[in-house]
This record gives sequence, C-alpha cells and structure tokens, in this order.
Amino acid sequence: MSLLAKSLSNIKPSPTIAVAGKASELKAQGFDIISLGMGEPDFDTPENIKQAGIKAIQNGETKYTAVDGTPALKKAIIAKLKRENNLEYKISEISVSTGAKQVIYNALIATLNPEDEVIILAPYWVSYPDMVLLGSGVPVIAESFEKDNFKISPRELESKITKKTKWLILNSPSNPTGACYSESELRALADVLLRHPQVHILSDDIYEHLIFDDLKFATIASVEPKLKERTLVVNGVSKSYAMTGWRIGFGAGPEKLIKAMGIIQSQSTSCPSSISQSAALEAYNGTQEFIKPNAILFQKRRDMVVEMLNKIDGINCNTPNGAFYVFPSCKGLYGKKTPKGQEIKNDNDFATYLLEEALVAVVPGVAFGAEGFFRISYAASDEFLRNSMQRITDACAKLK
Ligand SMILES: Cc1ncc(COP(=O)(O)O)c(C=O)c1O
Repeated sequence: MSLLAKSLSNIKPSPTIAVAGKASELKAQGFDIISLGMGEPDFDTPENIKQAGIKAIQNGETKYTAVDGTPALKKAIIAKLKRENNLEYKISEISVSTGAKQVIYNALIATLNPEDEVIILAPYWVSYPDMVLLGSGVPVIAESFEKDNFKISPRELESKITKKTKWLILNSPSNPTGACYSESELRALADVLLRHPQVHILSDDIYEHLIFDDLKFATIASVEPKLKERTLVVNGVSKSYAMTGWRIGFGAGPEKLIKAMGIIQSQSTSCPSSISQSAALEAYNGTQEFIKPNAILFQKRRDMVVEMLNKIDGINCNTPNGAFYVFPSCKGLYGKKTPKGQEIKNDNDFATYLLEEALVAVVPGVAFGAEGFFRISYAASDEFLRNSMQRITDACAKLK
C-alpha cells in the first residue's frame, strides 16, 4: 500500500515557490541571482503595526483565540468592509484564517463534492486549481487573452457554466496579470451570474489597494447586491499592509458557509496566531496613510518595467492597472537560439535561459495556465529593477 494519498497524485508544489527555490540554490552556489519571482511587497510592515504585535506579546495575548478570529478583529474587518467596499456583514459572517490562502482552502474543502466544478479564469493564481483538486472538485479553466488585457468576456464565462458549477473564482487585481475589472466589467459578469443561481462567487480581493491610474477598485458583491448572498469576499493584510509573514486573511460571506469553514479550521489549525491578529487589528483600525503612497510607488515601478520590456525585440508587455506583476509575452522570441545553440521553444525555455544567462529568475506563464508568457514581480527597488531589466535586455540581444 502506498504511503501517499491518491489525491496527492494530481497536486504539484507551488511553481512560484519552486522558482524561488531554484534561484536560492544558485545563489547559495555563489551566483549573483536576481529574483523577480516573489509575490510580496519589498518594504517593511509599518511601524504602528509592528508595535501592536510587540505589545500583544508583552500583554500576554499569546494563547489560543476563538477558532475563526477574535471578536475585536472581526469588528475591525466589518468596519473595513463597510468603509471601503460599502458591504455590510454581521460577526457570524466573518472568518479569520492563517492568510487568505487558508480562507480559500477552507471554503473549497467545506463545499466541494466530487464532480463539482469550479470555474477558474486563466491566467490564474497557481494555487486555485490545486486547491480545487485537493477538495476533489473539477477545475474548469476559462481562458482570457492578452488582446483583452486578460479579462474574461461575459460570453466566455457563460459558456463554461454548467449545472455542476459550484464556484466561480474572481481575482481582481489579478495575480499574475495585474488585470483589474472595472465596475462596468463586473456588472456585465454579474448579469451572467444572476441567470445561474447555482454558482457561488469567490472574490479574491487580496490586491485591492494596489490599483493604479485612478481606477476605482470594485468588488462584485457591492456591484450587484443580489449576488452578495452567494459571494465569499476574500481579503487580508498580506499585500496591502506588507504583512505576508504575519499570515492573516479573512472571508466574509453567508453564515452557513462561514460556520462550515470554522469547523474545518477548528480541526486543522485551531485559530490564526493571536499576535498576528492583534497586529492585523491595528492594520485595519490604525492609520491608512501609507496605502496611497505605496500604490503610487508601485505605479512608477510598473511604468519603468513596462517601458524597458517593450524596448526588447520579441517581447510585448501590456500595462496592467494593478497588483505588482507584469505578464509579458515572449512568443516573439520563439525559434531564436541561445549562444549555446539551444532553441527557445516555449516560455519554460525562455525562463531557464534568463536564469542561466541573465541570472534573473522569472516565472514561466505555463505555471499560471498561459503558455507563451512570463511573470515578473516588480515589488523591488528601482535600482534592482533597472538592473534586472538591463540584464534581460542584454540576454535577449544575444538570442539569434
Ligand atoms: C491571488 C492571491 N490570492 C491569495 C493569496 C494569498 O495571500 P495570503 O498571504 O493572505 O495567504 C495570494 C498570495 O500570493 C495571491 O496572489
């Protein structure tokens, strides 16, 4: 009898983490590797939030808390949802977990039966399909295209809905493309969803505050209030407050679902870290003054990265409105040969070439369900980015 569960045979470790691993391996061998694979802000957690964590330790807030979050943090989340998203929730409709990742995992595990379908929009965040598979569900991929700025059309969405569709996962701003759906684009998707009451919506809003060009963030449950009762809003402090390591995320949705997610959590992690919850409380209740300047900083970096990439022959890079990723096409380089005579046949070949020749780590698009592209995270200093874009430019110039 095999030690490992059958359900594991379909699951792969997160490819973004795999790239980071390969890059650190080369780094350990002494290579000057630049990694553009990371999915976290490069700056530190704001001081007031760090102090709240320290104070929590000193005050002895170091014990188990309520399974799905302290009442104080839930109240702060309710206030945030009202203030920023015009959404109203009760305490029983909020679940706090160890990162947004655990919220999504809990929701899928709590709801999926074998053969239940989950529509995932490609290019997608790497974890969605694997989490669906872990829940014995069926990932159904709906493709979006570069020419449409990687946004799904209502028609394409509707073509993927069946009687078995239990969830649609929306993620705007998107990882990996940075695409943001405007209110009117969400309105058009909502019109489709209103016709299919069996479909629940998981709205992953984790990049909410990383939005540029004066675009206004919109989330589907507030665009169409009739969908609120079948939507799980997922968000957290990781990206907006530079708190990836603190591991706090939340879900807001129907009480029945929230309760079921709590049961799963009670039998897996018991509760999120008490100290991190106190820090997250400060994140939501304290000053928000760094959020806008951070977004402006990211927008400037985006502009620089997009401009430098588009100067490279064979690379085409759209200008996304959010998150801290660009998702350029490398298809224009296919057929070219590296100085060692290897042909670039796909995005994996290109990412490997960049790692070996430019010593720059990027993630191939195939990891996100979109062959022909690669993801660059620009959550890094200007100098670091300029240097890495130059290395990519020089490496591409050597392709013949
Ligand atoms: C789209 C998306 N959703 C969720 C998460 C998970 O966030 P957290 O750190 O809160 O678990 C990430 C992190 O990379 C992400 O990119």
